Amino acid sequence: MKLLHGLILAVSVLVLAAGHSVESGCLDFDFDLRNSNNKCCKKCKPGNRLVTSCGPDANALCTPCEKDTFITDGNPWVCKICDKCSGKNRQVKVNCTGSSDTVCECKPGYRCANGKCSSCIEECGKGHQPNAAGCEPCPPGTYNDKIHQYCVNWTKCTQPDHQIIVPGNAYTDVICGPKPDTKPDSKPTVLPASDAESEVTVILIIFGLTSIAIPVATIFFLEWRRRKATQKPHVEKETLPGGQTQISLLDEPSFCFPQQEHGGSNQSSTASLVSQDIGPLEA
Ligand SMILES: *[C@@H]1O[C@H](CO)[C@@H](O)[C@H](O)[C@H]1NC(C)=O
Ligand SMILES: *[C@@H]1O[C@H](CO)[C@@H](O)[C@H](O)[C@H]1NC(C)=O
Repeated sequence: MKLLHGLILAVSVLVLAAGHSVESGCLDFDFDLRNSNNKCCKKCKPGNRLVTSCGPDANALCTPCEKDTFITDGNPWVCKICDKCSGKNRQVKVNCTGSSDTVCECKPGYRCANGKCSSCIEECGKGHQPNAAGCEPCPPGTYNDKIHQYCVNWTKCTQPDHQIIVPGNAYTDVICGPKPDTKPDSKPTVLPASDAESEVTVILIIFGLTSIAIPVATIFFLEWRRRKATQKPHVEKETLPGGQTQISLLDEPSFCFPQQEHGGSNQSSTASLVSQDIGPLEA
């Protein structure tokens, strides 16, 4: 007896699993007016179709929809075939149950052509828009910066004293802004700033050069005058032969001349170089 019970339970579990795991039977019934032993089902449990209107066992009046079929409000006798989401670029989003049809969606890169998603169309990227054939680039003067939307006109810079600052393209709108010449308070503060900056730079450079050149020139001049007055006679005579190899020494007169003043004999050639170069100037 126990074994039989268990077997029945197991079978009923299997049946339930095989059907859409929905509860079998009638949800709401009336008693049959003509036959008091009978019940007549007004509404089956979800996922069940009507087998017979009236009978003694209420649960036998309805049966679950077969696999891959479903039933909703409408004809209570017939389960409908689940949508297989076949068709180009379609796929299952939510599986069919006994009481609801499959929900379909489109594969990546495509989108539903309608609310029921009965077909899929190519998804148009930015800079494009959908048309009857699929997608097309935005027409000139329009842009679209969203996925699968219609292109819209570029903004017109209609505000007085405004103009296009950044031109539009298929992906982005025009950017409007004030005309440079009609906004004297904004531009002049910017341009003169950089002008002033470069002026300052030039002045600094001139000042720097001058502050080097004047002392150098002064030293040269003073040394030249001093040597002309005092040393020129001997130096010139002694050292003319060694002359022309070290002209660069002229660049550092403050090093050359003080050394020369120490009067060492090995320094005399240095002095002579200078004198030789300067010589022509005085001549
Ligand atoms: C739908 O059912 C199939 C088997 O019928 C299963 O492989 C798949 O994972 C299910 N999908 C979802 C979203 O439940
Ligand atoms: C977009 O521009 C075109 C041509 O300039 C014009 O005919 C159309 O009305 C504009 N559309 C909108 C929505 O302003």
